[in-house]
Amino acid sequence: MAVDSAGTFNRLQRTCKLLVLLCLLHISVTVVFYIRSLDNPFAFAQNQQSRNGSAPPDRHLEGFTRAAQQPEEEQQQQEKQLKDEPQEKLEKCPDTSPLLVGPLRVDFSVTVSLDQVKRENPGLGPGGRSWPRGCRALQKVAIIIPFRRREEHLTFWLYYLHPILQRQQLDYGVYVINQDGDEIFNRAKLLNIGYVEALKEYDYNCFVFSDVDLIPMDDHNTYRCFSQPRHLSVSMDKFGFRLPYNQYFGGVSSMSKEQYLKINGFPNNYWGWGGEDDDIYNRLASKGMQISRPSGETGKCRMIRHNRDKQNEPNPQRFNRIAHTRETMDKDGINSLSYRLLKKEKLDLYTMITVDVGRP
Ligand code: BGC
Repeated sequence: MAVDSAGTFNRLQRTCKLLVLLCLLHISVTVVFYIRSLDNPFAFAQNQQSRNGSAPPDRHLEGFTRAAQQPEEEQQQQEKQLKDEPQEKLEKCPDTSPLLVGPLRVDFSVTVSLDQVKRENPGLGPGGRSWPRGCRALQKVAIIIPFRRREEHLTFWLYYLHPILQRQQLDYGVYVINQDGDEIFNRAKLLNIGYVEALKEYDYNCFVFSDVDLIPMDDHNTYRCFSQPRHLSVSMDKFGFRLPYNQYFGGVSSMSKEQYLKINGFPNNYWGWGGEDDDIYNRLASKGMQISRPSGETGKCRMIRHNRDKQNEPNPQRFNRIAHTRETMDKDGINSLSYRLLKKEKLDLYTMITVDVGRP
């Protein structure tokens, strides 16, 4: 009897130990999965790139990581298939991309090179084109950057923006509109030229106009178009992360083809710094459009500090011009644009379009 109960006791003890072990195992697995599910919303997400150029550990970027590790031939084959496969056959991409990671660390003290950007973005097509894999992009976005001798800034822009734009599941191309020569700079005219030249390349229906030195700090700030013209760079570090004034429309903005055409594009006669963005705002307001904006938090961005460019001094005529937008906008815009195309280069990370914009 005593031997029997001792045996039963031992068996019970072993069963209990096994149960406790199983429970511990279950709890550990649950804890691991729970922590992994938390790391995105709360972590201060790094950008896709890591300093040593290796692929990111972030699980949301698995698609990109895999592409980077694929043998080149296989990857080219896949790229070809994707190009051949009409996007129309695919399901639409969701409104909010599941690849977004949230706030990003933007740091201009790191050293970046074009080679590194190339290595880290293996999915890009010639001229800096990309499109989502596995779903059909909601819009075709041309990104237009007015430019002259800012190679270092452009490298940062490409380094930060290409991964972001891919995570945003955009069908996009990057067009750098390079003003030739040493005449006074004309930002708005370069933007008009970008619109015309991009449309020669692809059937874009959305245009993002971005300064070369502005980097978004959250990838939820999607570089696409909305039912109203969009101002994207709403809280810049330069202005203490707030709008300098309510009508401010400078830095980065987006417009659909219809919105852009409704205002006859942008003015061509703002030479030098300032005023052209206010003129664009006036054009939009005069056509009854409103400005859409992301929240101040999502719209945070950093500007690369620099000295004022030569031949881009503040334009003393800007105040007078802004006061007369309504009278001038129908005559001065996309319908009166003239320029000379000097060179078009499809580079690995962007399309460079060099133009002669003339002089005042
Ligand atoms: C200029 C704009 C400029 C803004 C912020 C205004 O006075 O007219 O062109 O974007 O200041 O710097």
